[in-house]
Amino acid sequence: MGSRVLVTGGAGFIGSHTCLVLLEAGYDLLILDNFANSSPEALTRVAAVANVALGSQRLQIQRGDIRDPITLDGLFSAAAANGRPFDAVIHFAGLKAVSESIKKPLLYWDINVAGSRTLLAAMDAHACRTLVFSSSATVYGYPVTVPIPESAPIQPNNPYGFSKAAVEQMLTDLNSSAPNTWRIASLRYFNPVGAHPSGRIGEDPMGIPNNLFPFVTQVAVGRRDQLRVFGSDWPTHDGTGVRDYIHVMDLAEGHKAALTTLLNQGPQHLTCNLGSGDGVSVLDVVNAFSAASGQDIPYALVDRRPGDAAVTVADPSHAADILQWRTKRTLGDICRDGWAWQQANPMGYRQSA
Ligand code: NAD
Ligand code: WQD
Repeated sequence: MGSRVLVTGGAGFIGSHTCLVLLEAGYDLLILDNFANSSPEALTRVAAVANVALGSQRLQIQRGDIRDPITLDGLFSAAAANGRPFDAVIHFAGLKAVSESIKKPLLYWDINVAGSRTLLAAMDAHACRTLVFSSSATVYGYPVTVPIPESAPIQPNNPYGFSKAAVEQMLTDLNSSAPNTWRIASLRYFNPVGAHPSGRIGEDPMGIPNNLFPFVTQVAVGRRDQLRVFGSDWPTHDGTGVRDYIHVMDLAEGHKAALTTLLNQGPQHLTCNLGSGDGVSVLDVVNAFSAASGQDIPYALVDRRPGDAAVTVADPSHAADILQWRTKRTLGDICRDGWAWQQANPMGYRQSA
């Protein structure tokens, strides 16, 4: 029997791809998700691609909210009573839209921070003390050095970023309160994009995408007329913003590496950037996607978006050292796989082709 992992937010974009990788590696999963920003169909597809039965011991689903201590207590208690306690938790559940967090800060503090606190209390009460946490490069705010090492100052510039930094601090405090007890990985993702190469699982944002890559794929498939490029006067090689785009399958494999590291090594709190180390501009993405899809991507150069940085790129060397993990996939792979997903599912999970 494989190790058993509770995955919060496992139906979401990064969670669904990570669940697939973990199932293929032999882990048994229970996914807790309230489907606030995802569809159960994603998990039906994960089960099909992994060739496991939904609802079997390999893959169970519980609809519920991480803020509900009764739900959490029930899950941990039932797992112990059935002789299959959770060996670890991977905690994806949360909200992630910067602009929404500025309008609704209390909601972000509630779900991202209070929800994480409720989860940690349940884990502690049930002596499950191995956690992989979804942090974000957003904790660095406007970076002072690029590429950005983990030692860079934590200086978020929006409520979403503060919520991630607050959870990281909570984890640091928890680890200090009980030395040699917790096994924690705080993973700071850069810009996750792309899709599973099957075209069956991918990113399915609700409404108008905030992020560049899903917007580009929706322009290519004809759902949006044109891309607005936010700023063409940044101090970068072509004037547009530079980011570190990471294929979601590389990111999923990064979670497997972090989980393996925690389970195989002793208690620790490790903090890692998960990024490629490569800087790619908005126009580089447009051109690469155009080449991969054969579609024209009409765009207009418009003003900078408030809150954006010119360049954010990871220093990925720490992750390579301690997780023995680095990205393998190229920008071309990202565009090919993202296009396969968008073409096969022009309206996402709601309406498949
Ligand atoms: P997502 O919205 O696709 O997935 C989040 C999942 O959590 C969804 O399935 C949603 O329904 C669920 N959820 C939300 N609130 C919940 C609650 N109260 N209880 C139970 N489930 C809840 O987002 P994603 O892109 O997969 O991101 C996963 C995690 O990674 C998030 O914590 C996010 O902040 C973090 N992250 C994402 C990015 C990114 O650009 N996608 C970058 C850095 C960090
Ligand atoms: C990338 C580049 C934009 C949309 C965000 C969050 C961050 C993390 C990842 C969760 C920038 C430009 C974008 C568009 C554009 N999420 N752009 N036209 O802002 O780097 O990071 O997602 O943790 O916290 O802030 O990603 O994809 O929004 O933008 O020109 O329609 O594309 O200005 O240069 P960002 P993004």
